[in-house]
Amino acid sequence: MSDESLSPRTAAVIPAAGRGVRLGPGAPKALRTLSGTPMLVHAVRAMAASNAVSLVVVVAPPDDAQGVKTLLADLALPERTEVAVVPGGETRQESVRLGLAAVPEDITVVLVHDAARPLVPVDTVDAVIEAVRDGAPAVVPALPLADTVKEVEPRGKGEPEPVVATPERARLRAVQTPQGFDRATLLRAHTAVAAEGEGATDCAGMVERLGEPVVVVPGHEEAFKVTRPLDLVLAEAVLARRRANDGF
Ligand code: CTP
Ligand code: MG
Repeated sequence: MSDESLSPRTAAVIPAAGRGVRLGPGAPKALRTLSGTPMLVHAVRAMAASNAVSLVVVVAPPDDAQGVKTLLADLALPERTEVAVVPGGETRQESVRLGLAAVPEDITVVLVHDAARPLVPVDTVDAVIEAVRDGAPAVVPALPLADTVKEVEPRGKGEPEPVVATPERARLRAVQTPQGFDRATLLRAHTAVAAEGEGATDCAGMVERLGEPVVVVPGHEEAFKVTRPLDLVLAEAVLARRRANDGF
């Protein structure tokens, strides 16, 4: 990106306060390591890799905010990047709200990025920022689906579930992060949701509920979310491939 000193300031909020129940017993997910480095550190580096990002706000597990501060204090990041750590909440949405509260007013573009997507490439981050700067109030990176998706009538575990509908796969996208927002729009969405109650499963969904337009830009296969144990294997394989490629 061109002259950053003339551009709107951008911050990245990283919700990292989840426990990682689906990953199985162990440390909070963001602190689990990939090739020896905590997932959160990979995620912070991925945000700081963008020239546009001047602040990274990490929303830490509430009982370990001090440990996260210590972990990140030693991190070598580009000169332009400041890091702040705040304790998180009970839900992702609450954690994002707590992170947003730590973003100063001169920041006009806010990214929200899951610590659980540690390997997102910088080109994806930049593409999201670019689209917000071009005027979209909310931008999500997303990919077409490989699987066909069925809507079902949910039943108990193991019971056959009646199919209700099959949405046309070509019109569906699986959304990733970082999601990018005009700061004022995201704040408005969080205020509205606080009044109406929760329900949206991502930040962009909250903006949709305001009636504001949300656009999709191409995501990246390496921006996948580490959710289950097999995802750790994939993430380490991606890191090994990067190391091998860097060696040539
Ligand atoms: N998150 C958060 N605060 C919460 C819950 C989730 O900051 N109370 C964050 C997670 O740390 C993660 C992101 O939101 O970076 C996406 O959530 P998810 O992948 O569901 O992570 P966990 O909630 O930790 O995992 P699980 O649902 O398996 O417990
Ligand atoms: Mg969760």
